[in-house]
Amino acid sequence: MTTTASEFDTGTGYGRPKPSYNARLREVGPGTPMGEALRRYWHPIASSETLVAGALPQKTRVLGEDLVVFRDGQGNPGVVIERCTHRGASLFYGRVEDDGIRCCYHGWKFDVQGRCVEQACEPALGRRRDAARQPWYPVEERYGLVFVYMGPPELKPELPRYDALENPAEDERYFASWPVPHAAVLGMPTDFSWLNIYENSADPTHVTWLHSTHSGYQMLGTGTFGFPENFYDPATIAERVTYERTDHGVKYTQRFEAEGEGGEVTEYSFEVEQHLPNVFGLPDFVKVTPDARHDQLLWVVPSDDTSHRLFFSIRGNDPERMVRFVIGITQNGKQNHELTDEERQKFPGDAEAQGSQGAITLDSEETLATGDRGVVMLRRMLLTMADDVEAGRDPINIVRDPSQILHVDSGIFTLGKRRADDSDAKADDTDTNAGVTAGI
Ligand code: FES
Ligand SMILES: [Fe+2]
Repeated sequence: MTTTASEFDTGTGYGRPKPSYNARLREVGPGTPMGEALRRYWHPIASSETLVAGALPQKTRVLGEDLVVFRDGQGNPGVVIERCTHRGASLFYGRVEDDGIRCCYHGWKFDVQGRCVEQACEPALGRRRDAARQPWYPVEERYGLVFVYMGPPELKPELPRYDALENPAEDERYFASWPVPHAAVLGMPTDFSWLNIYENSADPTHVTWLHSTHSGYQMLGTGTFGFPENFYDPATIAERVTYERTDHGVKYTQRFEAEGEGGEVTEYSFEVEQHLPNVFGLPDFVKVTPDARHDQLLWVVPSDDTSHRLFFSIRGNDPERMVRFVIGITQNGKQNHELTDEERQKFPGDAEAQGSQGAITLDSEETLATGDRGVVMLRRMLLTMADDVEAGRDPINIVRDPSQILHVDSGIFTLGKRRADDSDAKADDTDTNAGVTAGI
């Protein structure tokens, strides 16, 4: 029997074009457009608490460069290129001393700015040691984190201050390191692109499906002070979420309602701003605490094109807040690393969804829809950031004034109250979504 053309199957997998990703958006190495743009900003590289004076150095990778982080015996943090400038041994095997790090191979010692202060086996400990310089990067500490600047020295900006983390109360501290094994928020490497997760932060619809509908509620605290069911309702999420460009990045606003005693309904907004290039604020996703000063920021730091580390700082006096943040999402009542492969299939979470997008997601294979508005806005703004750097302009959110304090517009806010039977009295919904669904 022959088949006529009109009867052919359509949409099969055969003959698809070669998949590709947008290299301008997704590659971060030295000399790449996004890599150069990201090098104009300070990035967290370690937690202050775990970088102990005189202790063994830490090895890490940022924007495709292998680095060693240490704190000398006098307490000064330092970041140097891992490869020793003498003949290439790794300074990860070096010894941290009072005034620098000493290479294990021939004993050259470098201070936190890479100056060679001693060449152990050379006459007079190195008559020409000034000619040797270990490549290094500037470091500053704030909010319990150690930040590094890897860009052009003459364009080094101020290390930004954020109002969410400024002026801690007397009983507050910064929670910026975490002793739970397997918790990626430690700054442990995760083996997919930083954009898989940064884009995820602009994607509220995944919360209503992946974290609550697909295999059950995954956040701790349900039934006590957890978010009401309508927060997670996938049937209404499209009409409850707006996306907008802000002066600093992209923000989504997700409305939900909670009915109190006596039939009074309060309408809230759950707001998350992506503050370019890689910062975002995440309100407590378990406990509704409206109208409070935001207390936490995250930084998604690319290690290279295909891996990243997530850093955070929480200002607070409530260790439970940190617990909710670090282990607040469970799958089948377990942490992700405790699941069998079969459980991962039945109770998938962020690791399964974002990890399976691939080490770098494939732009050519996507079919974007209205729920991707935030992701699309974010990509466009990141590409504009790269354009600005190429054109010789300061990109977005570069701080030149040390007194400037940035505001990340994240939090849970009260929009209004109404009687349960008064459906007309909802707060205004501003449609800021027009014309942003086209792909990159
Ligand atoms: S390779 Fe480092 S001192 Fe020789
Ligand atoms: Fe998630």
